[in-house]
Amino acid sequence: MRQKIVVANWKMYKTIAEAEDFMKRFPGEVSGVKDIEIVICPPFISLPGLSVLMKGTSLILGAQNMYWQKEGAFTGEISPLMLREIGVEYVIIGHSERRKYFNENDLCIKRKIAASFAYGLNPILCVGENFEQRSSNETEKIIREQIFSALEGFNLEEHQLPKMVVAYEPVWAIGTGTPAGGDDAEAIAIYIRSLLREKWGEVSDQIRILYGGSVKPENITEFTGKENIDGALVGNSSLKENIFADLINAVFRERRV
Ligand code: PGA
Repeated sequence: MRQKIVVANWKMYKTIAEAEDFMKRFPGEVSGVKDIEIVICPPFISLPGLSVLMKGTSLILGAQNMYWQKEGAFTGEISPLMLREIGVEYVIIGHSERRKYFNENDLCIKRKIAASFAYGLNPILCVGENFEQRSSNETEKIIREQIFSALEGFNLEEHQLPKMVVAYEPVWAIGTGTPAGGDDAEAIAIYIRSLLREKWGEVSDQIRILYGGSVKPENITEFTGKENIDGALVGNSSLKENIFADLINAVFRERRV
């Protein structure tokens, strides 16, 4: 059975002081939660401080991005080795904001996925169509291209599969307050699973698929209640500790009924 996972993507929000303030209070709000991986992805500069505050909790540290080289003359970049040193376990790769504002292309995303495995980080590969692509019925075509280009020529060993995460994030649903419907998201998750099977066979069923885009405490279980959706990637609703805790607790309660 795939373990549920909820990932907080703080984007470019929170100073170090604000991030640490969150982390002083948040663990207490989810202390009763078991068997759900909770991953916090703050801005890079907050990673070291949060890593200290998260010791002794079951929370997991993640990064929002990284470069694919170990070190070198790459001004402004952060390497997988540097992330590992701080205790980062997951890294978001190919988020639509990186594709859109920082021109990340398929080749760069593919290199980052390969580097994440090479350095023992678990990638959260983001895929999803924009509004125009959805309107012209290209959703499946786009997702197929994004998945196969990111994973091209890449042989994952079986033990690595449970660490791989794919996040379906329709671009039109991110930060808009208008999420995809639960059934629509499930249909795409099933499609993504069929692509992963095409590539790696049935063992790929261990790969977790998330939904992301305007997830809130009130709608999270519409997604996590589906057979093929194993959690969520959460932006806005992860910024306030009480709201994010409500969201996590909703997933936990649902799992127990
Ligand atoms: P949102 O962002 O929850 O604010 O829509 C999701 C994301 O970008 O990962």
